[in-house]
Amino acid sequence: MNILVIGQGGREHALAWKLAQSNKTDTVFVLPGNGGTENEPKCVNVALDINDFEAIKNLIIEKNIKLVVIGPEDPLVSGLVDYLDGLETLVFGPCAKGAQLEGSKIYSKEFMFENGIPTGAANSFTNSEKAKVFLEGCTYPIVLKADGLAAGKGVLVAEDLNSAKNWVDAVMQDSLFGSAGKNILIEECLFGTELSFMGILTPKEFIPFETSVDYKPLLDGNNGPNTGGMGCISPSPFMNDELKNTVMQKVVKPTIDGLNKLGIHYYGFMYFGLMVKDNNPKVLEFNCRLGDPETQCLMMQMESDLVDCLTDALKNNKVTINWKKGASMGVVIASDGYPGRYTINKQISFGDTKNLKVFHAGTKSTNGVLQTSGGRVFSVNYHGETLDLCSKYIYKNIEEVQFDGNIYRKDIGKIYES
Ligand code: AMP
Ligand code: GLY
Repeated sequence: MNILVIGQGGREHALAWKLAQSNKTDTVFVLPGNGGTENEPKCVNVALDINDFEAIKNLIIEKNIKLVVIGPEDPLVSGLVDYLDGLETLVFGPCAKGAQLEGSKIYSKEFMFENGIPTGAANSFTNSEKAKVFLEGCTYPIVLKADGLAAGKGVLVAEDLNSAKNWVDAVMQDSLFGSAGKNILIEECLFGTELSFMGILTPKEFIPFETSVDYKPLLDGNNGPNTGGMGCISPSPFMNDELKNTVMQKVVKPTIDGLNKLGIHYYGFMYFGLMVKDNNPKVLEFNCRLGDPETQCLMMQMESDLVDCLTDALKNNKVTINWKKGASMGVVIASDGYPGRYTINKQISFGDTKNLKVFHAGTKSTNGVLQTSGGRVFSVNYHGETLDLCSKYIYKNIEEVQFDGNIYRKDIGKIYES
């Protein structure tokens, strides 16, 4: 069958790579894709805008696409799945109402309160003056969140009243995140160990993926500014059976029940961002997509055929996912300056990377020459018997990927208890 993957990051490269391995797959069209998907066997990039729903629908019909997999949150929140309803094509991703769990932090917090899902206390504000008065009475640190989608930048853990007030001015008055920051949430700061728990959600069940840990801070030792993720390991050493059962009972079950109560038929990925203390999980956020770079490790770690997993979920069949033994790890190579202003258009050269899986995130091919085009450029992945072996292998060979001004963390794989 022909498959369409929507998106252009490392997550979509990893999904396309894994989908292409199925013997059921003829071609994976990637829209728009990147310099990595362009050269991936069975994959073909399509230069269309992910917001051009009509063009996407026409492509599906023209190329006889039987399965669509949507990577990023924006088209889900904007209703791409609803738009494609009625086609004889399986579309993996939630409808716009389901995607509101990520699209609005205020909506998702209310959903958690209404369904008894453990989470931090929070108040929402539509007026900046009232928000600032409220901040006077808070203990610090406190967490500030723009209600809408802000490309992963809409959260500040404010250490003091001054920085909190400055953020409110920038976001609510000066529209730092446009309309996404019109309303905000002020939330209790939670402490503990952060855990990414993701998988496939249907109205009947949640099929968890292997666990993973994302290294969010830019610098070694988990220091420096937060990024989209500088590396990843799977499985997570922080997860155990008891905690997994608790998450399934206290978080996943009420989420499924809550969605069903609202009449939302959610078929898609779900990523629960959790803070865990003393084996008690609290939800930091819902994401209606998979994490990046986590997906890259997870696709390395997955043994099952992803095409079967997704089509079975969409057809309400039993979904079974098998995972490889051992561990996977990925180290992100970014452009100097990321997550702030970074340079692009740097020429890339590869040495011997044959035992590594290099997923591209910010690359493009111009007249056959591969160049950087984003902040996070690659993730260099390896699957091995142990995490330690992964780390040794990746760091021994990572310099085989070269471009001017590349930066990466040297300590991915090290366990930080937080
Ligand atoms: P979110 O987009 O809501 O996941 O927030 C981004 C990041 O901010 C999370 O991955 C956490 O590191 C941090 N964060 C969010 N909410 C809280 C909270 N209530 N307490 C502490 N840290 C938080
Ligand atoms: N790596 C975190 C995220 O995808 O949100």
